[in-house]
Parts: sequence; structure tokens; C-alpha cells
Amino acid sequence: MKKMSAPQMSDAELVAGIKRMKQEKDIVVLAHFYVQDDIQDVADYIGDSYQLAKLATTTPQQTVCFCGVNFMGESAKILSPDKKIIMPDINAGCPMADMISSDEIERVKAQYDDLAVVAYVNTTAETKAHSDVCVTSSNCLQIVRSLPQKNIYFIPDVNLGSYIKSQLPEKNVILHDGFCCVHHKIRVAAVQEMIAAHPDYKILVHPEAQAEVVALGNVVGSTKVLLDEVKKNDAPGYIVCTEVGILHQMKKAAPGKEFLVPTRTQTCRSMKRNTLQKLYDAMHTLTPEIKMDEELMQQALRPLEKMMELAESKVSTL
Ligand code: 13P
Ligand code: SF4
Repeated sequence: MKKMSAPQMSDAELVAGIKRMKQEKDIVVLAHFYVQDDIQDVADYIGDSYQLAKLATTTPQQTVCFCGVNFMGESAKILSPDKKIIMPDINAGCPMADMISSDEIERVKAQYDDLAVVAYVNTTAETKAHSDVCVTSSNCLQIVRSLPQKNIYFIPDVNLGSYIKSQLPEKNVILHDGFCCVHHKIRVAAVQEMIAAHPDYKILVHPEAQAEVVALGNVVGSTKVLLDEVKKNDAPGYIVCTEVGILHQMKKAAPGKEFLVPTRTQTCRSMKRNTLQKLYDAMHTLTPEIKMDEELMQQALRPLEKMMELAESKVSTL
């Protein structure tokens, strides 16, 4: 007999179902600024990676549905082991997270007495377990500045690491060679051409972009920092050097303003693996769920907790 497939639900039905399940199943939906617009619109909170990590621990719901990439879901689980953390697509991974191995970290550790291993939060739990403290782009300057060690091994992003190095000359920042394929490909020549055509537009740059692009930024910072700049609504337009998902909130913050994107490759395929249908299915089945080795979670908790402690000790400046 021919198998009947389930009838397709419309987007409106999916949204209605997601809203209903939030109430019925006590689920909070968190979404990164880079996920697609329809998910941002149905989420309870949208934020940068630091805001979302914090919200995963502070929101009262016992189930968190994390719409982002899997290091974000893992960090939420490590920080809130008693909560159920589900994701629309557990295979949405950040390629940069796999660009460093524990062996490489241990090799550098062996070369210095006075060294702090500072891991960008875009890393695996195993990498975190070999690190002293995690950072995001919203708190990296504040945290690295506050560390007693002079030697800082910043992993894995060479671009964010170079930015930290340029801002904190008192530290000896040792760089790794990882990068974000989305931000690394933003071409300086394309940004310069846009600046020439629109000299009065503000240039907003995420520090995962290359140093030449960062140098052109009027504002350099995390996704939240860039959005906050647009909320001031004091420029005729903006040249946006980060992933295009953020444009959804930027356009809401400054309606009628022009937003220009210098290169065509500013889309994170991993973030776009999250779809409305997968979000609905995850909430319906409460799977896929983040499951991790207990011992690894314990080891990775220390640098994440240290980040929370140091980031909260003073208001972030980046
Ligand atoms: P934010 O912390 O600025 O949101 O960045 C996350 C990220 O993955 C950037 O590519
Ligand atoms: Fe990773 Fe880059 Fe995607 Fe952010 S935008 S999740 S750093 S690949």
C-alpha cells in the first residue's frame, strides 16, 4: 500500500504551533541574529552569542530551543546541565570551531610559563576544556585586559585575535590561524568602493573580518554592538560588514535607511540550516537534544563560568 506522507503545514500554521508549544511545553526559543527572519520573528529572544548564553541560564523555562549553531547549544548545556537543550538542527556547526586541536593548544602551553589560553566561544567543548577562559566578541577586550598573564594564546580566530592584539599592545597575543569563512571573505576593495560611493554612510564591522576591513570600520563589535549603533539612527545609511541575517533587526531599527552589504558571500550556511519546519519539529518531538559527556562538561564549564564572571564584573566596552 502506498505510504501517506504528513500534510505540509503552512508557515502560518507552523508559527501558530510554535507559539502554542512554547506555552504548553514551557519552552523558551532563543535565536541568534544570523538565523533567518521568520525564526527571529517567532523567537522569545534574539541576541549575540554572549547574550544568548546568558539567557539560556537565566530564563526560567526548563527547555531551551536554541536556534543557532551547535557550539551555542553546547555552551548552554554546559552552563545549565539540568535543562533540556534542543536545537532545530543539531548538525549546524561553525566550521571555525573545528580549526584547532587540543594537541596544538598543549604544544603552545608547554612553551610558556606565564600563559593564558583564551578560547573564542566558537569552539568545541574539548577545546574549551583545554582553555583558561572563553570570550565572545562583546567581552574579549575587557576579559583579556583583566587577565594577569602577559602571554595570551588566542584561539582559533586569527582576525578577532589580531583585533585584540591591536587594541591591547601591553599583551603578547599569540595567534592561531582559524577564521570564519563568512567574515574572512569580505573584501577590503569592495568596502572601499562602497565608501567612495557613499562617504556619509556608517561602516559597521564585526571583528571576525580581516584587519584591513576592521581598520575601515566606524564601529567594530559584536552583532549586538552593531545593531545598537543602528538604533541610534543617526546616519543616512550603513555599510554592513557581517552576516546578512542581522539586517532583519537593523531594518526594523532604522526603517527607510539604506543597508549595503559589500560582498555576496556574507551568508552563514550553518545558521541558515535552522528552518521554521525544523523548529516546529524540534519543539514537537523535543529532539534533537544536546547530550554530552559529563566529565567533558565539567572541564568545559570552568572557562565558560570564568567568562561569565569576568564579563559581568564591568559593563562590556566593545
Ligand atoms: P556574535 O557574538 O557577535 O553574535 O558573533 C557570533 C558569530 O558567530 C559571529 O560570526
Ligand atoms: Fe561560524 Fe562564521 Fe557562521 Fe559565525 S558566521 S557561526 S563564525 S561560520
